[in-house]
Amino acid sequence: MKGIILAGGAGSRLYPLTLVASKQLQPVYDKPMVYYPLTTLIEGGIRELCLISTPHDLPRFKQLLGDGRAWGLTIEYREQPKPAGIAQAFLIAESFIGQDAVTLILGDNIFYGGDNFYRAFTEFKSGATIFGYHVNDPERYGVVEFDASGKAVSIEEKPASPKSNYAVPGLYIYDNEIVAIAKALKPSARGELEITAVNVEYLQRGRLHVQRLARGFAWLDAGTSSSLHDASAYVQTIEKRAGIKIGCPEEAAFRSGFLSLTQLDELVGKIPKCEYRDYLAEVVAEAKRLQK
Ligand code: G1P
Repeated sequence: MKGIILAGGAGSRLYPLTLVASKQLQPVYDKPMVYYPLTTLIEGGIRELCLISTPHDLPRFKQLLGDGRAWGLTIEYREQPKPAGIAQAFLIAESFIGQDAVTLILGDNIFYGGDNFYRAFTEFKSGATIFGYHVNDPERYGVVEFDASGKAVSIEEKPASPKSNYAVPGLYIYDNEIVAIAKALKPSARGELEITAVNVEYLQRGRLHVQRLARGFAWLDAGTSSSLHDASAYVQTIEKRAGIKIGCPEEAAFRSGFLSLTQLDELVGKIPKCEYRDYLAEVVAEAKRLQK
């Protein structure tokens, strides 16, 4: 399974924050936003990654994440010259996807809790797997409608009258058919290659699996000043209470077996003295204690 992080867009809803740094580089409490979706993929066992962003912002992402080797990953980069829809990512990353299945995650989607995705990735065989999450404001999202037996029967993009409260979060798992499906898409009325059109295509083929995310699972959106603040407050609350970090790629890479304890230890030694380093040093110390 390969992983794409889509971190494009103008971020205009976060103006003036986004005048110098793109939305996905803004801090969510104690880390850049992109660390969270990146960690979600790493926790799911995905280590071959491609990050897509604008020509303007791509250099900053490369500066932040490099080629991924330090974290036991490979990270390739591709440009999305203009925001022409989420599904365009599969055309831009065609050579990266090759013959594999692929997960796409949006760079501003923050998930926390449970092993839903890990299981979805490891159990994935073919077709498409997407998720449904109960929200208060479904009209802002792709909306999935279920029948009485729990089967998905329709998906609509930002409908004025949503048929359910289940929004489709920005994490999508597809088999290799995705490339051909993306190629056949026509731009929507707003001029974009819509991810919802992809999901409708899989639905019509009888190849779409929609998994409802349980209560207690958190899906946060950080695309406006207010939701960015809420996401930071949420992360701070959990981190302070539990003494763990959400969205820490180094820790996730270690726990997924992409980094050995020695490699993590060396990595920590290179981080400047700060609270983030103290946290990772404690992860190392605990792992050493458990080895004894
Ligand atoms: C996009 C998708 C929408 C999905 C949402 C998740 O919306 O078009 O179907 O529910 O991401 O974050 P956008 O963020 O582009 O408004």
